[in-house]
Amino acid sequence: MAKCFDVPALMSQQDWLDKLNGGPRSAYGNYYTRKEYIAEHSWSILTTEVARELGKFLSTFDLVIEPFAGTGYLAHHLRKASGLGKRYRAYDACVSHWDETKRPNYGFTKSGVFNTNIKKADCVVMSWPNYDENLAYRIARKMVSGQYLVYQGEGGGGCTGDYQFHNYLDDNFEYIEDDSCLIGSGGVQWDGMHDTWSVYRKK
Ligand SMILES: C[S@@+](CC[C@H](N)C(=O)[O-])C[C@H]1O[C@@H](n2cnc3c(N)ncnc32)[C@H](O)[C@@H]1O
Repeated sequence: MAKCFDVPALMSQQDWLDKLNGGPRSAYGNYYTRKEYIAEHSWSILTTEVARELGKFLSTFDLVIEPFAGTGYLAHHLRKASGLGKRYRAYDACVSHWDETKRPNYGFTKSGVFNTNIKKADCVVMSWPNYDENLAYRIARKMVSGQYLVYQGEGGGGCTGDYQFHNYLDDNFEYIEDDSCLIGSGGVQWDGMHDTWSVYRKK
């Protein structure tokens, strides 16, 4: 029988700011809180505000695919916030960064993603694709003109994706400023991180 997990609830942007600024700090800032959060939730912080705005944005699509879904935390909340339910498909091959004996599954299919038909999705959601690996690049290459990409991560030279991905984004995708600002304005970053929510459309 599949193991059931209680999905941790979302917190507002203000509650996050209070927690990060008011909580125990060390020379490493929020390093340990972040480490714990990654293990139980996700690599990026999903606030109530981001989930609401991103949910509204995704609700206009028929099919959304999240290729490297981690625990499925993002997928769980975005399925609800968008009303997409099973039309939001999340995959993770469980190949890195996790202690597999402790890794929760809040709603992803344990599978590699490169056999799925990425072209069928209206939108791809990609959060913290592996650093210095070509996974994000391979997904971006598979996408077709008109498809949307919601990317959560750092820019070129940062901790997510590789140089090929960032160059490919610059050359082949259009940055959608209004949606990016609307979604991103409710976000929060960990100490030292420069990850943002960005919306792109493939040219
Ligand atoms: C840095 S983690 C980010 C996870 C999640 N997106 C988040 O923000 O918490 C990258 C994830 O990619 C997954 N991964 C690596 N190669 C994959 C593949 N070929 N297909 C699906 N998932 C893969 C790993 O198992 C890992 O969970």
